[in-house]
Parts: sequence; C-alpha cells; structure tokens
Amino acid sequence: MRKKVTIVGAGNVGATAAHWIAAKELADVVLIDVAEGIPQGKALDLLEAMPIEKRDVHVIGANDYADAAHSDIVVITAGIPRKPGMSRDDLLQTNYKIMSDVVNKITAVAPNSILIIVSNPLDAMAQAAFKQSKFNRERVIGMAGVLDSARYRTFIAEELKVSVENVTAFVLGGHGDTMVPLPRYSSVAGIPISELMDQATIDRIVQRTRDGGAEIVKHLKTGSAFYAPSAAAVEMVEAILKDKKKILPCAAYLQGEYGITGYYIGVPCKLGERGLEQIIEIKLTPEEDKALKKSAESVKELCAVIGV
Ligand code: NAI
Ligand code: 2OP
Repeated sequence: MRKKVTIVGAGNVGATAAHWIAAKELADVVLIDVAEGIPQGKALDLLEAMPIEKRDVHVIGANDYADAAHSDIVVITAGIPRKPGMSRDDLLQTNYKIMSDVVNKITAVAPNSILIIVSNPLDAMAQAAFKQSKFNRERVIGMAGVLDSARYRTFIAEELKVSVENVTAFVLGGHGDTMVPLPRYSSVAGIPISELMDQATIDRIVQRTRDGGAEIVKHLKTGSAFYAPSAAAVEMVEAILKDKKKILPCAAYLQGEYGITGYYIGVPCKLGERGLEQIIEIKLTPEEDKALKKSAESVKELCAVIGV
C-alpha cells in the first residue's frame, strides 16, 4: 500500500510541500485547509501534473479531516505567516488557537500518525502540539533546523563558490533570533570552514543565517519564505517514510539531553520509521552551551504565555 501524508494548511508552505512530495513520488497527499475551495483546487491542479511528471501519486484536497484517516505523517503548516516588522513570536496567540484546533481534529482521525510541525513560532507550536496530542515525543517533531542549516549551507557555498553538495553545517537551538549556528561543526568536503574563511566572514554568514527568514519577508512583503521551508519539511518526511535513519537538526522534546528538560529545542535527531529515533548529544563549548540555554529560555517564555 502506498504511504499517505496529510498536509494541514494549503497555503504557500503546505501546497509547495505537496508539490515536493508528489514530484519525489513519496506518498499520496491529502491537503486540508479551512479556506473553501483552496485545497481542492490546488490538489486537483497538482494531480493533473502527474501524467506530465510521470508520478503515480494521488492528491486530494478537503476542508474536513475524514480523508486524513490512516495518514502515516501529518505536516502542520496551518497558521498565519509574518509580515514585515513582525517577529515569529508575534504569531503566538493566533497560531496557538489554530494549532489546538488542528491537533484536536487530526488526533481524532489519525491517532497513529507522526506529526511534523511547521507553524510559527516553531518551538512553542511543537510544544503545544505535543502536549495536546498526548503522542509520545517520538511522534511530534518540529521543522526549523533543516531550513536554518540549509540557509547557512547556501551562504557558505556562495561565499566559497563551491557545490552546495560539499557543504555540511549545523544550526541548533530555537527557530528565532537565538538560533545557534555551529561553525565548529561546519565543513566543506570535510575541511573545517575556519580553514577556508576568516572569522569576520564566518560571523557575517552566521548573522545572515539568523536573519534568513526576515531577509525573505523583507523582499516578499506579503508573507514569508516557502520553497526552502517546504523542501526542509519534505526532507524530514522522506527520512521517516524511507526509514533512512538520517541525522537532521530538528526541534525535539528534551528530557535532560543538553541539560534541558521539558521543552522543544533544535538538536541533532535521527529520523526513521518510528519518527524521532534518537537525539544525538554532541559536546558543546561553554559559549555554545550558553547560547543553547539562552535559546531554550526564550522558548520557555513563549510556552509560559500560552500555558504549554
Ligand atoms: P499561508 O498564509 O500561505 O498559509 C497558511 C494556511 O493556513 C492558509 O491557507 C490558511 O487558510 C490556513 N489555515 C489557517 N487556519 C487554519 C485552520 N484552523 N485549519 C486549517 N488551515 C488553516 O502561510 P505559509 O507561508 O504557508 O506559512 C504557514 C506557517 O508556517 C506560518 O505560521 C509560518 O510562519 C510558518 N513557517 C514556519 C517555518 C519554519 O521554519 N518552521 C518556515 C516557513 C513558514
Ligand atoms: C522562516 O524562517 C518564516 O520561519 C520562517 O522563513
């Protein structure tokens, strides 16, 4: 039987994630949104591309959740995106209400699914989904680190004029201004970036990575990034559906790892058929550890506001 992925929120990130999943022939897709006609129209349009792309993928759109039954994975992108001048945290109250509504409905029809949370502010929304779903932590994972690391890798590749395939880099922490890019664990064809760039260049790239979301919002004006975010969510979907045991930076509920308990924060995670199969603990320098703890504090503050 073919795998099934439901995407809640048929906006920019959700619809583009459906596109990547169909293009890679990973699973059948159900697109759900409150907006009438939007998920149905986008799903039908995408379905009609399948003969051209030679992909046997079924895509449907709906406003209710019945079609999400038996989903292997549910990607939640429902919510409002930020506009210029807004931070991700400004979305907190509105998106918390939306997340609660979506999680209630999804857990009723797809109780065995794995949830990948995308809506912002990411770490607090993942925490809200985890608490409300009552799923174990293996089945509620947040997407941010794959995106932030991809931005970091892009800027390194552009700076050095090398293939993006050569660049490995990691970003930990929350998805926000306190994210923690790790130049020490960043390399090009195995060569540490500190051998290839001076400190000022690394610092500039790290800052551009932190501001990566805002840079796109400034250009778009009416919304936020969606091609790279949806590709990032689909890399996680693929790792789980294909049981790849792939190590990716994801937001996970920590139970003592990195000295943090009871909160979602971005850390290296092994993804496979059971979802989050392992949290990899790496030794951080005192400065990196301090930055990660500071990032966790800001997640904690947001969670306190919505009581999760
Ligand atoms: P969008 O506005 O294009 O799409 C959001 C969709 O959610 C809309 O179609 C809307 O009708 C739908 N929606 C609203 N309430 C709903 C509900 N109760 N049930 C079902 N659907 C509902 O926004 P976009 O650009 O797709 O972004 C979606 C979310 O993802 C935003 O919160 C954004 O900040 C976040 N995001 C997170 C990233 C990350 O790295 N974690 C990266 C990019 C976006
Ligand atoms: C981003 O980083 C808006 O969180 C989103 O692009």
